[in-house]
Amino acid sequence: MARVTTIAHPNIALVKYWGKRDVPLNLPAVPSLSLTLGGWRSRTSVTWGAPADRVVLDGTERHDAKVLRFLDLVAPDRPPCEVVSDNDFPTGAGLASSASGFAALALAATRAAGLDLPLPALSALARQGSGSACRSLFGGYVRWPLGEAPDGSDCHAVPIAPADHWDLRMVVAVVASGPKAVGSTEGMERSRRTSPLWRTWVEHGPADVAEASAAIQQRDLERLGTVMEASTFRMHATMHTAVPPLLYWLPATVAALHEVFALRARGVGAWATMDAGPQVKVLCEPSDVAAVQEALKPTALQLHVHGPGGPARVVDDA
Ligand code: PMV
Repeated sequence: MARVTTIAHPNIALVKYWGKRDVPLNLPAVPSLSLTLGGWRSRTSVTWGAPADRVVLDGTERHDAKVLRFLDLVAPDRPPCEVVSDNDFPTGAGLASSASGFAALALAATRAAGLDLPLPALSALARQGSGSACRSLFGGYVRWPLGEAPDGSDCHAVPIAPADHWDLRMVVAVVASGPKAVGSTEGMERSRRTSPLWRTWVEHGPADVAEASAAIQQRDLERLGTVMEASTFRMHATMHTAVPPLLYWLPATVAALHEVFALRARGVGAWATMDAGPQVKVLCEPSDVAAVQEALKPTALQLHVHGPGGPARVVDDA
């Protein structure tokens, strides 16, 4: 019996992943690029060899078929295992808990099974739990290219700059609590099948990633913020034009967006992004955090400020 505990941080896409060219393998239709956030984390313990399969998430035991299937990928002939995981931030609310959760699980499960996979293979494995999880194995600024191999073996994330390359801030405005109404896989498939904007969305992906990568190398926030917002709004346009439409935004989401635009009109360098949920995340320089917080206070239930975070890591190895 081996028990390994790991932590991984969530990541927020600066250029978005939305759509799969292969659903079971989680192969993306578009490349993406993200920032791993310090501060929040998933902590996951895997015991390889337990009396029975058991999954405990945020203190509640549940039958989680996705987690058990993921363990089968690590080793099809595995023994019964115990997985205990918790997040120190809201789960399933568009705050990337599946990204940090499956990144922490991939590292903990492989190590508990006695495997020491190279990072690209570990990232490709995490991808099969949740696409965006492949990016949370790495710290800082991370790219997830399309890959070419039909089995997905070359479809893994690649770090492009470490956390200390550029000390940006992401101000997270939680405007609603509770889990999202439509999960990301269903949302992506609905957008792909029914949105007339789908092709335009897919065509822009590679250029958006190239633009964001160049902006990160040059530490040009206006350039990065501009492409992040463009990618965000193009992604949400495929949701809004799906049939039936997908609208993750709430009135408070729109109010927060207008606050960000008003900040920019006043010369504050702040750009917004949203994922498959109502929360608004604002990218800015550390020196502008106070102005961003002040502007978002009336519309947000909670405000959290995160800088770039580090890679997933083992914290206990018994
Ligand atoms: O990894 P998933 O299946 O939870 O999808 C994440 C999709 C977005 O968060 C909306 C965008 C992204 O790139 O993280």
